[in-house]
Amino acid sequence: MGKGTFYVTTPIYYVNDKPHIGHAYTTILADVLARGHRLLGDPTFFLTGTDEHGMKVQQAAAKLGCTPQEHCDKFVVPFQKLWERLGITNDDFIRTTQDRHKKIVQAILTDLNNRGLIYSDSYEGWYCVPCERFFTEKDLQDGLCPDCHRPVEKLVEKNYFFRMSNYQQQLIDYINEHPKFIQPAHRRQETLGFLNKPLGDLCISRPKSRLSWGIELPFDKDYVTYVWFDALVNYISAVGYKADDEKFARWWPASYHLIGKDILTTHTVYWPTMLMAMGLPLPEAIFAHGWWLVGETKMSKSLGNVVNPMDILELYGADALRYFLMSAMSLGQDASFSEELFVLKFNSELANDLGNFASRVTAMVRKHFDGKLPPAAQPSEADAELRQAAQNAIEAMRAAIENMQLDRGCAAVNEAVKAGNRYFATMEPWTLAKNGKIAELGAVLRNSAELLRIVSGLLYPIMPDKMGKMRRLLGMSESEIEPQMDKLSQWNTLQDNAAIGDDSQPLFPRIQLVKSEPEKTPAKAKPEKQPKPSKPQEEPLPEGIITIDDFAKVQLKTAEITAAEPVAGSSHLLKLQLKVGDEARQILSGIAENYQPAELVGKTVIIVANLKPRKLLGQESRGMLLAAQDSQGQLRLLTTDGPLASGANVG
Ligand code: MSP
Repeated sequence: MGKGTFYVTTPIYYVNDKPHIGHAYTTILADVLARGHRLLGDPTFFLTGTDEHGMKVQQAAAKLGCTPQEHCDKFVVPFQKLWERLGITNDDFIRTTQDRHKKIVQAILTDLNNRGLIYSDSYEGWYCVPCERFFTEKDLQDGLCPDCHRPVEKLVEKNYFFRMSNYQQQLIDYINEHPKFIQPAHRRQETLGFLNKPLGDLCISRPKSRLSWGIELPFDKDYVTYVWFDALVNYISAVGYKADDEKFARWWPASYHLIGKDILTTHTVYWPTMLMAMGLPLPEAIFAHGWWLVGETKMSKSLGNVVNPMDILELYGADALRYFLMSAMSLGQDASFSEELFVLKFNSELANDLGNFASRVTAMVRKHFDGKLPPAAQPSEADAELRQAAQNAIEAMRAAIENMQLDRGCAAVNEAVKAGNRYFATMEPWTLAKNGKIAELGAVLRNSAELLRIVSGLLYPIMPDKMGKMRRLLGMSESEIEPQMDKLSQWNTLQDNAAIGDDSQPLFPRIQLVKSEPEKTPAKAKPEKQPKPSKPQEEPLPEGIITIDDFAKVQLKTAEITAAEPVAGSSHLLKLQLKVGDEARQILSGIAENYQPAELVGKTVIIVANLKPRKLLGQESRGMLLAAQDSQGQLRLLTTDGPLASGANVG
């Protein structure tokens, strides 16, 4: 962003297979950042595409009996379709088989060759076909590929080499002087660790006798370019390097290359040294995110646990998927994908908190103000907390977009929605309506609508379709649907008397999860029938009030924690063993950010004992611990005021 523009890229994906949830994740992340920067008013360019050369494509095409180009033309389609379905707003889609790319790769090779930065030599090494990488004897692990642990082939052949070693010290110095160049910090350390050993030169050719599907070397017709040397160049060929100087100067260097942790070395060592040799500035930041796991296991075709984003889309829609992926992964760490977590998050944050709040507000405007938004009210003490919550969410989302902490941004917005629901519960608009206090009622509804306008603007980059609908619901005009940060951060910018939109359909109908096996592709979940939003909960039971019979259904008991441990693949769950009278049970509880396992053992806590057992990350959880959480996120468990045996009834 040093140059005042924002240029973000995804890896270009191999076309040898269908896209899966991991590909969808990086692309959605790039889209959210691009939309987020557009929201902040930054000129933005967002690039994605496909990596179409190399052995894997050649082999896959041979298997299917078609030409490699036919294979690419066929396999690029599911990617493009998926991006369309997911609402991805890329400005360009580069395919490495396009002429505009091939001729730039060749121009770069010619230039480096002319400047003596490429030489030929006889090469002896171990080659891993699936990874398309050469390894030296000492790189191998137990004689196998150190990356994929599959057998390698011995090869001796003449090849061309890029003098990567020339740039080793320059790269180390650059990384040390630019702490934000490789993010997060542990990936920077990993790269520096790699650069601790002498850096060899990079073999950038493959003889056509072995691999013909690639970009021909301009100085030797018997060779094609190594697929990584070709692929990395997409980041500059797409924005006009050696073709459109003005465009190139506008966008390069990239603000962020987003990558998965699997392709760190190619991006943080090969690519910067290539750019140094070309005399070009390095990207401002390379961000390596973690893996999406299924339960605790890596997704892989052989395990049959690959999550197909299309299935999730069909069931729950693009926005719900986008929201889950952005809010459930702490950037830089691994995260777990399961349908159960997805549904839990959807129901609590989107259906209960946000959707419910929006439908209560619009339904009351419809009922008591003939569907016209009440006029702006003077700010007062009563709504100070609400306005503050909106302000906090704005600050947090701005920081989240700028510092790659989208999960925190989502959490802050959810806090603001919760503040909206609290405001409603405190102000009791249904009582104001009953007592004919129309001006006060109007103020409560207008303030709530203002909060919804801000929330919908902040979540727009993540859920453009649903938040666009919410903005229309608030009576906003078409030109205001795509938010701008300047306007967003002001209070009372909705139109007095604007006609609220059609709220007959709930924005986020609750999902009822029929099955509890998280590992499989979703198949049986269905949206629940929704209570008509036009009927806000008014008398006889005001919001939040239950009868003693309702309460009696919940069995609360004391329980003693006998053991506690972290849950692999989750940063917020702890696995607890508890004694409840004579009974032993296991509960998974989301308290890992507030308690160390060791400090829990021996505590007597209060549990909901008759909760339906469920599976979290594939492990059974029978019951729930009671805890209190304040608006700062501080959480403490409920315990007894003095020693008491486990299994005692609470009530
Ligand atoms: N073609 C190369 C990249 C060249 S970039 C110049 C490549 N392609 S890939 O199809 O294998 O895509 C890898 C990328 O997909 C990862 O870097 C990551 O962005 C994404 N993901 C694939 N599986 C993933 C998960 N399970 N979890 C999260 N993202 C992962 O490598």
